[in-house]
Amino acid sequence: MEILRAAGDVWAPDLDRQLQPEELREVGAGANALVALLGDRIDAELLDAAGAGLQVVANVAVGHDNIDLPAARERGVVVTNTPGVLTDATADLAMALILAVTRRLGEGERLVRSESGWEWGIDFMLGRGIQGQTLGIVGLGAIGSAVARRALGFGMSIAYASRNPAPGEADLGVRRMELDELLATTDVVSLHVPLTNETRHLIDARRLGLMRPAAYLVNTARGPVVDEAALADSLAAGQIAGAGLDVFEAEPTVHPRLLELDNVVLLPHLGSATVETRTAMAVLAARNAVAVLSGEGAITQVP
Ligand code: GLV
Repeated sequence: MEILRAAGDVWAPDLDRQLQPEELREVGAGANALVALLGDRIDAELLDAAGAGLQVVANVAVGHDNIDLPAARERGVVVTNTPGVLTDATADLAMALILAVTRRLGEGERLVRSESGWEWGIDFMLGRGIQGQTLGIVGLGAIGSAVARRALGFGMSIAYASRNPAPGEADLGVRRMELDELLATTDVVSLHVPLTNETRHLIDARRLGLMRPAAYLVNTARGPVVDEAALADSLAAGQIAGAGLDVFEAEPTVHPRLLELDNVVLLPHLGSATVETRTAMAVLAARNAVAVLSGEGAITQVP
């Protein structure tokens, strides 16, 4: 806020909730810059409501599926995001979900809190170890690579599916394969692709059906990359062993059948949620907005 206020007049909501589209259009009218959160839908209507003075939309997120990029481009509006600063926090959370789901942490926590009684036993609440297992990373960009580095430290081997071979593949010791092969052969699958028309429901009923019954799915990318109803079916039928989800198709709603399942760990989109990371994201977004307004050019423009 200090960075923005030093550059001009700032309007910010004093509500702790997302603004509705009509509210966004109202408050955005006449703005030169919009600093947006990932739940703010920035579409042609909003861009038009903002008007010809709008120069930049600075998203406080690395993902930008909430923004209609062609509409922004047509209107000459620069779009920026916050890559880099949230890589480690998100990779940490993906690793946390991998451990949580394979070691049944959510289930264990619920059991203790239920006060229904428990006792250490030789075969009590056994999970699966990840050492010697293979992690399949779907999308080996910055976050996927950071997860790979962490998983190597836990003794996992790494396979990945990505449109292009990743630079640094050899350094990381990772192996590229087709998505279907990755799903059919790896023990934990972690998703790190952006949400686009090509990746919407990338993990659908057919692809879930390729996974092994002992395999786990982790999603810290975007909810709609997975067909949530198909995932609930597949988990309920024991087609896969479990899932760790930080993102959902229609946040904050979670598919009701997922809520009933014990083998799913559910988090409320916490990937980048550390004080340090959220601060760095906010600062980068504010700097991007100011850089464009001052004619210097964006720091991290979405191409
Ligand atoms: C969070 O989900 C982000 O895209 O930054």
